[in-house]
Amino acid sequence: MCGIFAYLNHLTPRTRKEILDLLIKGLQRLEYRGYDSAGVGVDGPTSNANITLVKATGKVKQLEEKILENKEFLNFDGVHTVHVGIAHTRWATHGAPSDVNCHPQRSGENNEFVVVHNGIITNYKDIKQFLISKGMMFESETDTEIIAKLIKLIRIQNPNDGFRQLVEKTIAQLEGAFACVFKSTSFPGECVATRRGSPLLVGIKAESALESDHIPVQYSLDEDPRMVKHGASEVAGSPAPRKKTSAMFRVDADQTEEIHPSDGDSVEYFFASDASAIIEHTNRVIYLEDDDVAACKQGVLSIHRINREGDSSREITTLKMEIQQIMKGNFSSFMQKEIFEQPESVVNTMRGRINYEQETVTLGGIKTYVPEIRRCRRLLMIGCGTSYHSAIATRQLLEELTELPVMIDLASDFLDRNTPIFRDDVCFFISQSGETADTLGALRYCKSRGALIVGITNTVGSTICRESHCGVHINAGPEIGVASTKAYTSQILSLVLFALVMAEDRISLQARRSEIIQGLRQLPDLIRKVLDLDGKVLTIAKELYKKRSLLIMGRGFNFATCLEGALKVKELTYMHSEGIQSGELKHGPLALVDSTVPIIMIITRDCVFTKCMNALQQVTARDGRPILICEEGDTETMKWSEHALEIPRTVDALQGILTVIPMQLLSYHLAVLRECNVDCPRNLAKSVTVE
Ligand code: F6R
Repeated sequence: MCGIFAYLNHLTPRTRKEILDLLIKGLQRLEYRGYDSAGVGVDGPTSNANITLVKATGKVKQLEEKILENKEFLNFDGVHTVHVGIAHTRWATHGAPSDVNCHPQRSGENNEFVVVHNGIITNYKDIKQFLISKGMMFESETDTEIIAKLIKLIRIQNPNDGFRQLVEKTIAQLEGAFACVFKSTSFPGECVATRRGSPLLVGIKAESALESDHIPVQYSLDEDPRMVKHGASEVAGSPAPRKKTSAMFRVDADQTEEIHPSDGDSVEYFFASDASAIIEHTNRVIYLEDDDVAACKQGVLSIHRINREGDSSREITTLKMEIQQIMKGNFSSFMQKEIFEQPESVVNTMRGRINYEQETVTLGGIKTYVPEIRRCRRLLMIGCGTSYHSAIATRQLLEELTELPVMIDLASDFLDRNTPIFRDDVCFFISQSGETADTLGALRYCKSRGALIVGITNTVGSTICRESHCGVHINAGPEIGVASTKAYTSQILSLVLFALVMAEDRISLQARRSEIIQGLRQLPDLIRKVLDLDGKVLTIAKELYKKRSLLIMGRGFNFATCLEGALKVKELTYMHSEGIQSGELKHGPLALVDSTVPIIMIITRDCVFTKCMNALQQVTARDGRPILICEEGDTETMKWSEHALEIPRTVDALQGILTVIPMQLLSYHLAVLRECNVDCPRNLAKSVTVE
């Protein structure tokens, strides 16, 4: 998905090379989100009366090379005491990847307004038509270009407006989802950022300590940006808005006075679509809310809104993530690193939540809601892709330990129906990024019908986190590889913990709870043992990597592993792969089986063991030669296959956490052998903020 990075240095002298390096580094941190072109916008080489755009189709590396090739023209040694640079990685939605479609998009040939944008403007065709009728010419196929052109038109109609007011009036015309950062030759040294539906955060690095943990929101109720309409009811120019003084976020301890930076007070601001691009510069960030307009002028950051919805201030949060967490270390890819991090990431998910001696589980984020959840009519678990699979993996245990009906749904499918939702429903929204558009859409649907909303996410401050009534952070640490691995096992774990909390006062379930809690204690060591299978998995991958298809079969607690394994193989290797419920074999998939089709079967000694053995016999009777994922020392099962990956025994409900790891490793090795990009599979993005 697209990535935004912008940098404003105020009274912090930086050479132009430093600024460009910083912008490129910011884009590199966002590369994992998936993109196909990249661009930057900085002041002109000798003056801020113009803006220079550099764009490249392809990787950030190509943009970097283009910048280096033009270093004379770009005046690398020039120094800016105050400067705004904006940068973007684009994931094509409207118009193919190309330099002209790449961002920043501009208002016209003189680059008066330039903008970087994530998301989709759904009414861009109407606005484009309107702008064309005003004589504006378009050069790109993007929806974004209308934003740059529209702000220019609004500027012509409202010559006395400040930059922030112009942006407010512009976004009032936009429908859809967006996060935008604007730069303009008419407002040198100023930067305005805004969002609706797509994430955006502001990092602050100040020499002097921040005296407040909050920045007040200012409301523009008396200014009506909807005055400028496109189409029939257009008003030619809106009245000059009442001037307001900006509030400084560094306010007095008693919060009464605005303070403007004194001469020599240096400050730097970073705007990004995710924290990984900011963390190496500062850990002090503000997550913008929908329709916030953040304006930086003369080093002062202020946040504005048209309406009084939501909190009256924005918290300056301290990011907990470490820079090492977003570095690859000795691993060849982020995905490989994240697979091997699982012994630690599961510990982080459980940390401080389980008392193994007293066998109690505490989830601080939902604690006060547990009585209400216990009284609910049913539980709904909603997510997309891997996150949805974590719901499948835990449904059986949730039904067992909560004794409630549990519905699971793909967010996109859920939104395609008019699903009845009731006030006494509890709806779980599972999302690693916390920004997935479909999941968020389903959340808002359920919230509007009065259900209790529980977020299960890995990203503190994400939209799903903020819009949920309560939730559980899975604490898996940043996941950079597009293919989700450690987040999946931590999602399962978080839902297992939730099930344990729900069963706390059920006498009849205590033995089961105890077995699972003790199983959790062993989990990190067992994961390490599974990771030791890496060499063996590589050998299997070498036999499989030239094949066209891979079937993965299992049932019960392991069915989710089949779906998740197949998804990993598909997205990383571009091979066809299918997860098959073994119970369904006779209803169709058995027709696929012969001596040539690669098959993996997952068989553990749980309550469906006998049924799985039946399936194994059906497959081998049709000359199928399955590779097995089975329990350590299970010779009875292993004798049916040339290849068996033995995983340690654990409680049935936790088995899926172990059985998925060989599948993660296999898809990784297959991808490497097939020379696919492991961290950024084609056509995919880490954070899917459009429907
Ligand atoms: C697959 C994968 C995707 C995501 C899905 C939902 O490896 O990562 O299927 O799981 O796009 O994303 P989140 O969890 O961020 O809502």
